[in-house]
Amino acid sequence: MNTFWSKNIFGIDSLKTIRDFRFNIRFSELYLQVLPIQRGMKLLDLGCGPGSFTRCVYDWFQGDLQVEGLDLDDGYINFCTEIAARDHYNIAYTVGDACNTSFSNESFEITTSYTVAQHVEDLSFFKEQYRILKHGGYIVVMDVGGYSENIASQLEVIPISQEEFNVLLALKIVDEQNNIIKAKRHNKNRKSDYMTMNLLNDMGFTDILHQKIKIFGSPDNPQSDDFSRLIINNFYSHYIDLAISILNNDNNSDDIKHLANIYIDLVNERKAKRIEMYENNKKLWDSIETDVNIIIAKKGFI
Ligand SMILES: C[S@@+](CC[C@H](N)C(=O)[O-])C[C@H]1O[C@@H](n2cnc3c(N)ncnc32)[C@H](O)[C@@H]1O
Repeated sequence: MNTFWSKNIFGIDSLKTIRDFRFNIRFSELYLQVLPIQRGMKLLDLGCGPGSFTRCVYDWFQGDLQVEGLDLDDGYINFCTEIAARDHYNIAYTVGDACNTSFSNESFEITTSYTVAQHVEDLSFFKEQYRILKHGGYIVVMDVGGYSENIASQLEVIPISQEEFNVLLALKIVDEQNNIIKAKRHNKNRKSDYMTMNLLNDMGFTDILHQKIKIFGSPDNPQSDDFSRLIINNFYSHYIDLAISILNNDNNSDDIKHLANIYIDLVNERKAKRIEMYENNKKLWDSIETDVNIIIAKKGFI
């Protein structure tokens, strides 16, 4: 059973929280102005992780889309399958290698991926999508273009304590020493957009297009309570992820794992303060802004 990513790199909950914000239904119009997805299409999301994109895109079309997800990591896929059964998403999930799938030729009208191309050997990744796409179908390669969290106002009122800072420093040193994880975390296959577009062109894709979408959110905007809380959770997920990967690494001693648990408690204390302020209507106007980079290309008719 392969759980390398979900245990060591991105915890299921934190990755789901971050992506549920990024693909939230509030932003669906922005995405759908750009993405070549139509009702009823058969779509495969490669490297789907905890499945946020698959569920969100399904919701954008009120279920009128045939969605499948594939990932190498059993932890993510088991999670996706459980959520689909619990929340009645008619989405099929498979464990598999995105560069060498068991799907027949010309199975899908659209293949998507979000922050995956930089982690795999991209020639075989794109070749495989060319093979399983129907003629006239589209490949969509998505990535984070830019990311910023504006939490200065938050730090003034809920500062990071000296203790949290010290523990974080110690955990970072441990993380540096966990070389295998560090090597895997590094986006070693990252290419410029220009190089990706060139590669797609060389492989026979046509109608190649580069687009960008800007996603913005602040808990203090007037919006649904759930959405504001999702943004607050986003602020803190990043912090906790490092501690989770340290907890999941069997090479780390109990003392180090204890430190990781202390760190999680300290971050959660800060998060509780932020939630209390939100509930008392104290506005901080902290925010997240993300650019989503999107490359689209067509498998043209030969
Ligand atoms: C940064 S995560 C992104 C996950 C998901 N797309 C999302 O945005 O939530 C990269 C994902 O690629 C998956 N992955 C890496 N190599 C893979 C491969 N060869 N085949 C399938 N999935 C792979 C990892 O398991 C992980 O879920």
